[in-house]
Amino acid sequence: MFSGQHTRLRRLETSDADTFFSHWNNYELRQYLPSPLPSSQKEIIAFIESKEHQFRERSEFFFGIEECCTTKELIGIINLESISWISRHAFVGSFCIFKPSLRGKGYGRDAMVTLLDFAFNVLDLHVVALMVESPNKQAIRLYENCCFTNRGTLRELAYRNGKRCNVTIMDVLKRDFIERYGILPKGDSIL
Ligand SMILES: CC(C)(COP(=O)(O)OP(=O)(O)OC[C@H]1O[C@@H](n2cnc3c(N)ncnc32)[C@H](O)[C@@H]1OP(=O)(O)O)[C@@H](O)C(=O)NCCC(=O)NCCS
Repeated sequence: MFSGQHTRLRRLETSDADTFFSHWNNYELRQYLPSPLPSSQKEIIAFIESKEHQFRERSEFFFGIEECCTTKELIGIINLESISWISRHAFVGSFCIFKPSLRGKGYGRDAMVTLLDFAFNVLDLHVVALMVESPNKQAIRLYENCCFTNRGTLRELAYRNGKRCNVTIMDVLKRDFIERYGILPKGDSIL
C-alpha cells in the first residue's frame, strides 16, 4: 500500500515471527536499536501482537520493510512512535535493515521517504523527529538526505559496547518534506 521504488511498508503479521526472530537476536544489529537484550520466540510473537494493537489504537505505526521488486522478503523495520495527535508530531524510534549485506543499497532511504510521505501526506503530522547516536554517520547521512536537520546534541546519552556516545537530535517539518518531495503517489514508484 505504501511503496517506494524498492520497498513497501506493510503491517507485520505473526507469520513474520520466524523471519523476525532469525534477525533479531544479533548484537551487530541490535546495538543501534533501543534495547540490545535478546528476545525469545514467544516474546517476538507477543511483540508483533502488541504492535498490531498499537497500530489499531493509532498510538504507534510499526511497519515491516519489504523488498518489493524481486524477493518480496521482509528486510527491515521502521516506525512512528510517541505520537501526539494534539501537537501532531511523532518520533522514528526503530529503523533498520536487518542484513548488513543489504545496507548501503538505497532500501533505507526509500523506506524513510515512504514513511515520511505517510506521516505528512496521510496522517497530516507537522513534525517528525528522531534521535541517532552521533557516530552513526551512515544513518545521519540518510536522514539529511531525507530532509532531516541536526537540531542539537545530547552529550554522552547512549552507552554501547563499553563506551558512552553523544546522541544527535534531528527533525523534519511537513513543509520541508513537501517542498522537496511533494505528495508522493501511494502504491507505485515514488522517487
Ligand atoms: C541506517 C540504515 C537503516 C540505513 O539503511 P540503508 O539501506 O543502509 O541506507 P541507504 O542504502 O538508503 O543509504 C542512505 C545513505 O547513506 C549512504 N551510505 C551508505 N553506506 C554508507 C557508509 N558505509 N558510510 C556512510 N554513508 C553511507 C548512502 O550513500 C546513502 O546516501 P545517498 O542517498 O547520498 O547515496 C541501515 O544502514 C541500518 O540498518 N543500519 C543499522 C541499524 C541502524 O543504524 N539504524 C538506525 C538507528 S538511528
